[in-house]
Amino acid sequence: MKKVYDFIKKCGTYYLATVDGDQPRVRPFGTILLFEDKLYIQTGKSKDVSKQIQANPKAEICCFAEGTWLRVAGELVRDERKEVKKAMLDDYPELRGMYSEDDDNTEVLYFKNATATFSSFTAAPEVINF
Ligand SMILES: Cc1cc2nc3c(=O)[nH]c(=O)nc-3n(C[C@H](O)[C@H](O)[C@H](O)COP(=O)(O)O)c2cc1C
Repeated sequence: MKKVYDFIKKCGTYYLATVDGDQPRVRPFGTILLFEDKLYIQTGKSKDVSKQIQANPKAEICCFAEGTWLRVAGELVRDERKEVKKAMLDDYPELRGMYSEDDDNTEVLYFKNATATFSSFTAAPEVINF
């Protein structure tokens, strides 16, 4: 799990895919947090990406660095706890201009039933389930 988190941090930007009916949707994301051994992302409930996740929690992220790419596929679960939102925003203080752990919009979600796969052209895939 820490290896997955560290790699996403190294990438800086990852791409989050969601399902919108029969249409895949993908966009750049950057927020990532390891909290209570769960991998969290952050968004706003007002965004389409959030509405898509609530309608269908299946999601996948992908990022690439130094010849290796990582995909994390699973389900995203909303966590309404203020302490997780605070931990996320404390890690990304620049987001505090738009978000607060006390507002109605800030959303953090963690991966469950997830499979992380590290791939490269030179080594066998490494799979981590969490
Ligand atoms: C480098 C980068 C990182 C971003 N990180 C996030 C993020 O962590 N959370 C978020 O909600 N939006 C983030 N955004 C903005 C989303 O990509 C943008 O709001 C997108 O339109 C959301 O998808 P949607 O239009 O399908 O709702 C980021 C944008 C960029 C360019």
